[in-house]
Amino acid sequence: MQGTVKILGIAGSLRRDSYNRAALAEAQKMAPEGMRIEIFSDLGAVPPYNQDAEKDTPKAVAALKEKVRASDGVLFVTPEYNYSVPGVLKNAIDWASRPYGDSAWEGKPVAVMGASVGMIGTARAQYHLRQMFVFLNMHALNRPEVMIANAAEKFDAQGNLTDEKTRDKIRDLLAALTTWTIRMKESQKVVIA
Ligand code: FNR
Repeated sequence: MQGTVKILGIAGSLRRDSYNRAALAEAQKMAPEGMRIEIFSDLGAVPPYNQDAEKDTPKAVAALKEKVRASDGVLFVTPEYNYSVPGVLKNAIDWASRPYGDSAWEGKPVAVMGASVGMIGTARAQYHLRQMFVFLNMHALNRPEVMIANAAEKFDAQGNLTDEKTRDKIRDLLAALTTWTIRMKESQKVVIA
């Protein structure tokens, strides 16, 4: 029988009232049967990347890598800054990919979503993340794409996601990520006769 798929959720904003952190918290609550989302909440503790520091991995980086490795898959929830991925998120991705040959991201199934106050809903940032997945050899879920535009209208003052269509989209994404993660895991064991 299938166990529970463990997903590490990482939101790329440090802002207290972040829409992306709120979206990830909602996703955690909406996780379907057969999936559990753990939220990585220490992004702000990850120091600026410095290759000189790779020999003595900072604690926060070691903790991130351990959590990524313990997960079956990853869910990034990214804001869009200047048409791309926020520096704090890119920085954490860079750290956990190093030293060369010891990337924690290697082979992980991954899904993306994001919320923006603008009309494009983080599409550009999401595609920049997807480009990184190629080099990181992460297995990206193609669809559904969840781009939460005009976020200020979709969350209430307490950070609850009140827009039903967006809630449905996230549910669809989580269901697809569950299936995708299981398929990826199984494919690593399959022998083609
Ligand atoms: C933004 N914002 C923004 N929005 C967008 O749709 N495209 C963009 O390129 C940018 N660029 C940008 C740069 C910087 C430095 C900031 C601080 C903001 C607005 C962004 O969508 C908004 O601040 C969100 O609320 C950020 O996400 P969180 O913090 O709410 O999760």
